[in-house]
Amino acid sequence: MTVVYLNGKRVDYGDAKVSVEDRGFQFGDGLYEVVRVYGGRFFYLDRHLERLKKGAREIYLDLDFGLDELKEVCRKAVLDGGFKDASVYIQVTRGAAPRQHNFPANTTCTWVVLVREAKAQPQEYYENGVSAITVPDERWMRCNIKSVQLIPNCIAKEKAKKAGAYEAIFHRGGVVTEASSSNVFIVKNKRLFTHPANNFILHGITRGVVLEIAEKLGVEVVEENFTLDKLFDADEVFVTGTMTEIMPIVKVDGKIIGDGVPGEVTRSIMKEFRELTETVDQ
Ligand SMILES: Cc1ncc(COP(=O)(O)O)c(C=O)c1O
Repeated sequence: MTVVYLNGKRVDYGDAKVSVEDRGFQFGDGLYEVVRVYGGRFFYLDRHLERLKKGAREIYLDLDFGLDELKEVCRKAVLDGGFKDASVYIQVTRGAAPRQHNFPANTTCTWVVLVREAKAQPQEYYENGVSAITVPDERWMRCNIKSVQLIPNCIAKEKAKKAGAYEAIFHRGGVVTEASSSNVFIVKNKRLFTHPANNFILHGITRGVVLEIAEKLGVEVVEENFTLDKLFDADEVFVTGTMTEIMPIVKVDGKIIGDGVPGEVTRSIMKEFRELTETVDQ
């Protein structure tokens, strides 16, 4: 069961169509969000919508609908499908117009809300940890914008799959940035390190939640650049994302991390995170 709203109106999945000249299709001129619903409760929908609003400002995209309206549509779509555990995909593009690079003058956004049941990741991944590979970060310099242009991320994820790994961790000249669809954290001597929230990474909502959990647990956080050497030498590594949640990484490029099992700090953060998924509704 997939529930789709196109430009604010419910449409059958098969009838949910956009123009061949939609700028999302032709230029990747659009933004997206993925929001998780647990037990019918939205997990920080407001934060996702706030990031979408910021992204729209960054790419000079006038949202011709209100965030309240978008929020209402998200809620309706989840209720329509009677979903308990769902992923809500939101996409907004600059709309359809005859193809030219300049922004069209009188075009309205195309916006889509698509909800389907969330596929939980295998429990053993969380219990035993998974592996990752490292790849050069070949993306543009504005990775804080959640643009639908994801080709480098897709290539990286495909490389991970071919290598039998769960995720591909990006590095820019040896500095670890993030991963193909998640943020990266390492733990060394009980301190948590992650790349600063600047233009080289997506400011992940889950990343933010992890920082809040770390504060609550009294774990010291260092938001500074760290290198591949530090990654390999870490006691613990994990990645975070809306669908990934908090995933322990126990092997990178074939090298065992720490003891080769999810570490203590990672596990305590995972536990707190799980509790939040059982209560948060905003
Ligand atoms: C490149 C990248 N980094 C990080 C994330 C995690 O962001 P969030 O926690 O908001 O899902 C994602 C999620 O799609 C991503 O694509």
